Amino acid sequence: MGVSRGGFSSRFGFIMAAAGSAVGLGNIWGFPTQTASNGGAAFVLVYLVLAFSLAYPAFMAELLIGRYGQANAVSSMQKIARNTWQKRFGFVVGFGGIICAALILSFYSIIAGWMMSYAIEPLARLGGFTGAADWLINHSLIRNILFTALFMGLTIFIIRRGVEEGIEKWSKRLMPMLIGLLILLIIYVFTLDGAREGFNAYLNPDISRVFEPDLLISALGQAFFSLSLGTSVMIIYGSYIAKKENLVTLGAQVTLIDVSIAFLAGLLIIPAMYVAQAQGVAIFAEDGSLISGSNLVFTVLPALFTGMGDVGLFVAFGFFVLMSIAALTSSISMLEGPVSYVVERHDTPREKATTFIGLGILVLSILIVINLEWMLDFVATLSTQYGQPIIAMLCCVFAGWIWHRSDILSEIKQGNEHVEHSLFWKIWPWYTKFVCPTAIGLVFWHSL
Ligand code: TRP
Repeated sequence: MGVSRGGFSSRFGFIMAAAGSAVGLGNIWGFPTQTASNGGAAFVLVYLVLAFSLAYPAFMAELLIGRYGQANAVSSMQKIARNTWQKRFGFVVGFGGIICAALILSFYSIIAGWMMSYAIEPLARLGGFTGAADWLINHSLIRNILFTALFMGLTIFIIRRGVEEGIEKWSKRLMPMLIGLLILLIIYVFTLDGAREGFNAYLNPDISRVFEPDLLISALGQAFFSLSLGTSVMIIYGSYIAKKENLVTLGAQVTLIDVSIAFLAGLLIIPAMYVAQAQGVAIFAEDGSLISGSNLVFTVLPALFTGMGDVGLFVAFGFFVLMSIAALTSSISMLEGPVSYVVERHDTPREKATTFIGLGILVLSILIVINLEWMLDFVATLSTQYGQPIIAMLCCVFAGWIWHRSDILSEIKQGNEHVEHSLFWKIWPWYTKFVCPTAIGLVFWHSL
């Protein structure tokens, strides 16, 4: 299987791909939105702490399981298991993650489709096609279906090409573009009236809010969503990393990039909201909280762009292209989970498996589009608020309780000879065994 599976050809390639999976709508939309609705800087602070103290160890567990197994999520987990009971457990966790990834993709592609239609709209307007431009930003069944299908088509196109020619190549192209666009937009917004007030709201924490349970829960959920945990994706990406690489630093680098991009996105969106306010756009909802969620991205920001005149068309284009890129580098990883499973376990050619699974998920997406009012929320809640935390927790249990410590050590030592004496190895094993499952469980329990 070795040669035909493929793998990342370079460290940089892996970092861009894993960061590409992690950096998505969750960073550029979810994080600023949550920050806005959870008291600004206090949320940022809690998020940073939780991302490194809880999400990073869980992320390491998934990467390690994958690199050890050198196979899809189910086979990797089962390779660690030593008896029938453990193998069943491994199947449930691995397969559960794959289903979870597919469910997330089914609704993610709808939202990503909106991002794409909003990105094309300014072009249509520049070209003088006002009717088409209006159609692009008005919710209609046909537009939703078309753009969801278009986005899924792009995802399928990349995954059909495999790890090196598809995932790695496109992540290496798209991620630097994303970072460049993000920085350009921040600099531009910084020069506008009202931005300073936004910076203050973003960067001065109200310490009294830091220990609010709801804030903690939202921050932890956001951190797990953002690192794509509990969806088999990091297991499969881990399986494509060469044995000579140092997983401890690679994992830390990806976490750092993910957190930094969320932070940068906040630096763009929150000040942009205050700029919009300075231009007369309402940014506070009736109950006094900042407008968040889809209204923020599809109402407040477009109103801001319109207020900028002609420049606004370019800014809007840049912003929604940024969103679309972020979504695409995430969606390819979601599709890779199920595809790698079918390719390896059912001996199916990659192209065929990709097209079939992609189209299958598209059918589910269309079903959601047709029943948008209830189904979008339902699938999103099911997969991200229940599926992800439960499966991520079970992965920690698996790594902490079933996998032998000495086996973990010999895996992690490859590419990191002296890890035995490092701080990481002093903390991580018991941390993953006790702290991570308990903390995730508690938060999950509370959120019910
Ligand atoms: N991390 C992605 C984001 O921030 C979203 C995500 C959640 C994801 N679970 C995933 C991406 C699984 C890929 C695979 O938007």
